[in-house]
Amino acid sequence: MTTSSAPGKIILCGEHAVVYGRPAVALPLSGVRAYAEVDDAPPGSGVCFCAPDLGRSWTLGEAPDDPISQLVERLLADIHVPGADIRITLSSDIPIASGMGSGAAIATALVRALATHFERALPPEAVSAIVYESERGYHGTPSGIDNTVVAFERPVWFVRPRPTDYLPPTASGSDEQAHTGYQSSVVSSQWSAVGRPTIEPIAIAAPLALLVGDTGLRSQTKLPVAEVRRRREADVARYEALFDSVGALAHQARDALAAGDRAALGPLLDRNHTLLQEIGVSSPELDRLVGVARGAGALGAKLSGAGWGGVMIALVEEGTQELVRRALLAAGAARILETTVAADQVPDAV
Ligand code: MEV
Repeated sequence: MTTSSAPGKIILCGEHAVVYGRPAVALPLSGVRAYAEVDDAPPGSGVCFCAPDLGRSWTLGEAPDDPISQLVERLLADIHVPGADIRITLSSDIPIASGMGSGAAIATALVRALATHFERALPPEAVSAIVYESERGYHGTPSGIDNTVVAFERPVWFVRPRPTDYLPPTASGSDEQAHTGYQSSVVSSQWSAVGRPTIEPIAIAAPLALLVGDTGLRSQTKLPVAEVRRRREADVARYEALFDSVGALAHQARDALAAGDRAALGPLLDRNHTLLQEIGVSSPELDRLVGVARGAGALGAKLSGAGWGGVMIALVEEGTQELVRRALLAAGAARILETTVAADQVPDAV
């Protein structure tokens, strides 16, 4: 039996604009995780999946088009164990469609568990590349930030090259194989249509305490992403200007993190939330929790992830953390997570 796990994530700054080539900052949420267990199964039984949290069990043969089935089929072919007889059990603390990267976390835990079970070494970049393919199955044109922060499990600065069009990518060859050293048709197709992203570690000079407030509303990432695309097509100049403003905030947020300047970071989160409202991905519930957090003393607050539900984040200090937490619960937050991002003055290369 082999078990692996992967964390959730939050976007500190830059969601949606990141799909259009602007930079974004993402942080792992190591306190909530997805888990995958792989067990050998009787000969001839093939691959069967059991996901009690989803209330689902299925076999590869029954649901070949399911993105998780496809991920497993491709990975088993890549690592030369097609036709394996295994039982895969998936579970997760991360609510689905909550903006905390549950899909990327489940896929990452699964890829790690399969690689370990079949004694294949996969570096984080290869895991991220494989998970990206699976993310495409769920929402078509992901930027790649979720799979990256989850697979590396560290704060990242992520910039996808600006696409010349915003159509769903079509796979073709690339130099990914040479880059990762992982001989994989899955990896080699990644980034081919969208170009290789810039992924850099982030210097964090002082620890950050964040509260993650869950509205309890679920929203699939692909819906607001598709709506933003539609709105941008209707008014390219306005949306490109909004995305530029978000990108500028991401640069300032990176500088504030590097300087350990929490007081400067707070208002940047506030401004990011205002821009996300203008982009059209907030909701009354998110706005309420963001306003309540600020009113209770948070240094700054914003929605995090795709929006229309899911979670918001609030930057807090020791003296205000408990006040903000109580205020969020009183305002109807379904759940609050507390996370601290450790200072990391000299980050390793990502
Ligand atoms: C979702 O976590 C972040 C979005 O920007 C989508 C993406 O980057 O693929 C909304």
